[in-house]
Amino acid sequence: MTIPFNKPFISGNELKYIELAVHSGKISGDGMYTKKCHSFFQTQYGFKNCLLTTSCTDALEMSAILLDIQPGDEVIMPSFTFVSTANAFELRGAKIIFADSRPDHPGMDESILKKLITSKTKAIVVVHYAGVATDMDLIMNLANDHGIFVVEDAAHCIDSFYKGKALGSIGHLAAFSFHETKNIQCGEGGMLVINDEQFFTRAEIIREKGTNRSSFFRGEVDKYGWVDIGSSFLPSEITAAFLFAQLENLNKIQEKRKAIWNVYNETFSKSDLVENIKLPFIPDFATQNGHMFYVTCRNLTERQFLINNLKQEGVYAAFHYQSLHQSTYFKQKHDGRKLEWSDYYTDTLLRLPLYFELELSQAAIIAQSIITSIHQINNQLV
Ligand SMILES: Cc1ncc(COP(=O)(O)O)c(C=O)c1O
Repeated sequence: MTIPFNKPFISGNELKYIELAVHSGKISGDGMYTKKCHSFFQTQYGFKNCLLTTSCTDALEMSAILLDIQPGDEVIMPSFTFVSTANAFELRGAKIIFADSRPDHPGMDESILKKLITSKTKAIVVVHYAGVATDMDLIMNLANDHGIFVVEDAAHCIDSFYKGKALGSIGHLAAFSFHETKNIQCGEGGMLVINDEQFFTRAEIIREKGTNRSSFFRGEVDKYGWVDIGSSFLPSEITAAFLFAQLENLNKIQEKRKAIWNVYNETFSKSDLVENIKLPFIPDFATQNGHMFYVTCRNLTERQFLINNLKQEGVYAAFHYQSLHQSTYFKQKHDGRKLEWSDYYTDTLLRLPLYFELELSQAAIIAQSIITSIHQINNQLV
């Protein structure tokens, strides 16, 4: 058997909608399918405004421009995240202040944030790791007290909630990913959510190369031109048509992915291996959205042993992220604080295959195979 780590979901209507988009004569961005996607997200999740982008990375870069990040402004974010979370703000000259993860969860440790805030702090970027919310009441209160903006890096977060509110609907801005590894995908794609009205107009301009072309298309101005900085952040209708075919299937996708997540979780919970592997912790205020199933091992060696054993059986498991404060690019810039939990997840977190087509029985076999490998480890240690 070969079980890949990921297999992108295909609904079957993608090519049909792409064909319709092509024949409509409007293939560049912001046509019918882009509008359908925007309206779906706004209705379903209560986002005040949203704009499809070509990636989550782009949505994060737009956020940094929108917040007018200047050289020397400090931006707080977790070290245990994808490069783009930090790179978007680094590009604008921000000083990145990395925060540690929680001992019980790879997300940012909310309890240490107050100590990291200075008079130069301009923004906090939260990463809801694996679609599991950071404590947003705490973050928003802290941000409001200090006049700081909050960006939700919601790359993993479609259809996940904090105290009943959709992730991405709480911060001033939020960035989603529709990369092929995500629950709904269009190959490469993303979305900027704008919950703070002061950013609506400028977001459109930044996304359209710094021009007021969107106003022009609505007939609000009689010509368009260069009015601000920006770049080419909007996807074509081909991408939006593909994405819309996925959105129509969101409930079906979510149901299956959560069922797979539950099989992994229940199989491990019933085993006697709590000393060897820790299961994902979901705080009471959060949901999980079937984006990712991971376990944390005791150390790097045991994780590698599990990966190798799975590979021999044709199962591809993966790990990520490498703490950004230890990265080749950033380590000279880091202020030297030890971020032990971020490093702990770097070494021990193991992600298991999770995609729509994975059979529940296959998830059970993968979990059993890991349990067998752990028994091997324990027997060698005795
Ligand atoms: C937390 C986080 N932020 C941002 C990104 C970047 O997403 P994209 O590939 O859509 O640019 C990723 C990628 O997986 C991610 O995991």
